[in-house]
Amino acid sequence: MSDESATLKYNGQDIDLPIERGTMGAPGLDIGALRSQHGVVTVDYGFANTANTESGITFIDGNEGLLTHRGYSIADLATHCTFLEVSYLLLFGELPNTEQLDKWTTNIKMHTLLNEEIKRFFDAFPRSAHPMAILSSATNAISTFYEAYHSPSDPEAVEQSAVRLIAKMPTIAAWAYKKSIGQPYVYPKNDLEYVENFLYMMFGLPVEEKKIDPVIARALNVLLILHADHGQNCSTATVRFVGSSQANLFASVAAGMNALWGPLHGGANQEVIEMLDRIAADPDATVESMLARAKDRNDPFRLMGFGHRVYKNYDPRAKLLKEFAHEVLDRADANDPVLDIARQLEEAALEDPYFVERNLYPNVDFYSGIIFRALGFPPRMFTVLFAIGRLPGWIANWKEMIEDPRTKIARPRQIYTGPPSRAFVPLDER
Ligand code: SDX
Repeated sequence: MSDESATLKYNGQDIDLPIERGTMGAPGLDIGALRSQHGVVTVDYGFANTANTESGITFIDGNEGLLTHRGYSIADLATHCTFLEVSYLLLFGELPNTEQLDKWTTNIKMHTLLNEEIKRFFDAFPRSAHPMAILSSATNAISTFYEAYHSPSDPEAVEQSAVRLIAKMPTIAAWAYKKSIGQPYVYPKNDLEYVENFLYMMFGLPVEEKKIDPVIARALNVLLILHADHGQNCSTATVRFVGSSQANLFASVAAGMNALWGPLHGGANQEVIEMLDRIAADPDATVESMLARAKDRNDPFRLMGFGHRVYKNYDPRAKLLKEFAHEVLDRADANDPVLDIARQLEEAALEDPYFVERNLYPNVDFYSGIIFRALGFPPRMFTVLFAIGRLPGWIANWKEMIEDPRTKIARPRQIYTGPPSRAFVPLDER
């Protein structure tokens, strides 16, 4: 901690607040003693201006549209790495060498199967169940087979739980999809790489050999990397909150999945494609009319896939995905009419004063759904794909939180606005 401080004037007193500086980004005012010594708390709805931790995992410069993981740019990682390589970097802090990557990949490959009893778990859901509900439920369900590995204070148990979660998530996701379409579950194959295995379980059938297109597999690798981590976003902060009570990694990740499902967060990618489909299907819904609705404060409609709590410039992931969307659609020979609508919406919004004044740019969810659909995934699986991508980021943050000696159980305060204390009124006098 530096010996710099800021001075707050309150109640006729000068209060010195120590300043905490990291390696990059905004410094922080340490308010840790404010309530105990001066009886005052701070107010910050949504913690938009409050650091809940130090972290060395991801850095975002919202004004510059910069995103790095452990110091490496997202563009370099998406171009040169596999998803499991980036997962290793997030969890252990360094890019793996060949031996480390082989060991990591093999360890994950050996844990892709689900315990056979779990199959009946899928039978309990209606076919119409949203796969995000199955994903978070199944994450808690599989934890019951590994109770010996729940202790957050046992580093080997934590690493084994991380391996099991990363290994089994594609199997759970693929089986949730197969359940929804009434097809038999396809078991993982150990001679396939991580993403190929997932595509095989998603789109393969027991009656024929499914060849995985390497172009599609490469595209999905990139998409998972672009979703791998993103600082203290809503779902990652949720994983940290739940983990701060010493809840096990499975329970903490399941909570993060439920936070991600919200339409303002990871659920936005499904909302974007449904919005674009509505525009494509409704002759009265034009780009202009949709922008007008998005700007109308009396209309709850928002331009999904636009805006961001941190980026007040182009989300670098959206920039990469925009270029990628065209490439994938061309190669997948998938002509999706909504791509043109998306580009028209983006162009119109980026010229519209309402969006310009509020620094509203496309975010990671604006183009991802178009690519996911081109790869053959149905819209209800888009947030599941986001969750598979974000899983190593959640685990890395949970691990960093558990290992941080400054970690305390999360317990925010409030400004009470209810009735003052008052005498009880017996029922017969109310
Ligand atoms: C993700 O945090 C992360 O890092 C998240 C994420 C990750 O990787 O984990 O990047 C992934 O969640 C991306 C965001 C996906 N969500 C959406 O695309 C949903 C649509 N976007 C919004 O709802 C909104 O932009 C948020 C929730 C993303 C951000 O909200 P903020 O920063 O709290 O902004 P705000 O709600 O305070 O809005 C500021 C102004 C308001 O207008 P005024 O009150 O000033 O008149 O901008 C307007 C808002 O009405 N606004 C929008 C808008 N987003 C904000 N108006 C129309 N359409 C939009 N999309």
